[in-house]
Amino acid sequence: MNLAELNKVAQAMVAPGKGILAADESSGTIKKRFDAINVESTEDSRRDYREMMFRSKEAMTKYISGVILYDETIWQKAKDGTPLVKLIEQAGAIPGIKVDEGTQPLPGCPGELVTVGLDRLAERLKKYYDQGARFAKWRAVIDIGNGIPSMTAISVNAHALARYAALCQAAQIVPIVEPEVLMDGDHDIDRCYDVTQRVLNKTFQELRVQRVELEGMILKPNMAISGKKAKHRAGVEEVAEKTVRLLKACVPAAVPGIAFLSGGQSDEEATAHLDAMNRIGNLPWKLTFSYGRALQAAPQKAWSGKADNVAAGQQAFNHRAHMNGLASKGEWKADLEKKKAA
Ligand code: 13P
Repeated sequence: MNLAELNKVAQAMVAPGKGILAADESSGTIKKRFDAINVESTEDSRRDYREMMFRSKEAMTKYISGVILYDETIWQKAKDGTPLVKLIEQAGAIPGIKVDEGTQPLPGCPGELVTVGLDRLAERLKKYYDQGARFAKWRAVIDIGNGIPSMTAISVNAHALARYAALCQAAQIVPIVEPEVLMDGDHDIDRCYDVTQRVLNKTFQELRVQRVELEGMILKPNMAISGKKAKHRAGVEEVAEKTVRLLKACVPAAVPGIAFLSGGQSDEEATAHLDAMNRIGNLPWKLTFSYGRALQAAPQKAWSGKADNVAAGQQAFNHRAHMNGLASKGEWKADLEKKKAA
C-alpha cells in the first residue's frame, strides 16, 4: 500500500469548493427515481441520464471532485463510444465505485440489516482499479426504531465496513466508509445524535483493530438530524452545531475529510446544513457533500428522459453542484437559490 498516494486521492476528493456526486444507485433504486419522472429504466436510459451529468461541464470541472458509480456504469460507454469513466477523468474528476452488494436481514435481529459483499471483494477491487476507480464506497444501514438499533447490528456492520476499508487500501483504493443512520421515523435530533455516536465510535474502533490508515479514507456519515416524521424538527443552526459537536467527539483529525450523505433531506436543506457547519469553522477535517438525491432530484426532473431537455438537466445539475460547492466553503446564501429561479 502506498499511503501517500491514498492520502493524495482522499485530499483531492475533499478539495476546497468541491464534493462528490453519488450516482451509484442500484438498478432497483434508479428505477424508482425514473418511475417518479415517467421514464422507463433501461440500460440505454440509465446511460443517457448519467452521460448528461458527466458532460455537465461547469459542475464537473468546478464543483465535483469525484463520482461514485454503480457496477453497470463503470463499464458503459457514452453514445459516441467514449467510456463514461473517461468523461469523468477528462473533466478532472475521480471515478469511484460502489462495491457493497446491498443489505440482507440480520439473523436474530428483527427489522435490522447487515450489508454484504465481502466475498471475492479483493478480486473485484483489482478489476475496478484497472478500470480507473481510485475510491470506493460501502454503505451500512442503521435504522432507529422501537428497541433498535441493537449493539449486534452496530457491531457486525462496523466490522464489515472495516473489512471492506482494509481490502480497499490493500488494493490502492480510497475507501469511503459510510455508516448511515436513517432519518426515517419520528425520533428527535438527540436520539439521532446518540445512535450516531455509538455507530461512529464502534466504526472507528473496528477501523483501528483492522489497521485501516485513517489518512487514506473518507467518512460519509449522516448529519445529526430529526427524523422525517418528528413533531418538531430541529432547525439549521441546531443541526449544524450538533453535527459538528458529534463529529469532533468521534472522528479523529487524521481523517482528511467528511462527505455527508443527504439521506432524504430536501435539496436546499442539505445545502443549508453543510453551509452552516462550514461557517462554524476551525474544523480538523474538510466537510463536504457526497449527495445522491440532493444533487440529482432537480436535474432528473428537468431532464425527464427527453433528449431535448439535456441542456435544462445540465443547467439544473450545474446549479445544485455550484450551491453545494459554495456550502463546502461556508459561502452559500439562500438568495442565490432565488436568483436561479428568476
Ligand atoms: P443520498 O444523498 O441520496 O442519501 O445518497 C447518498 C448515498 O450515496 C447513499 O448511499
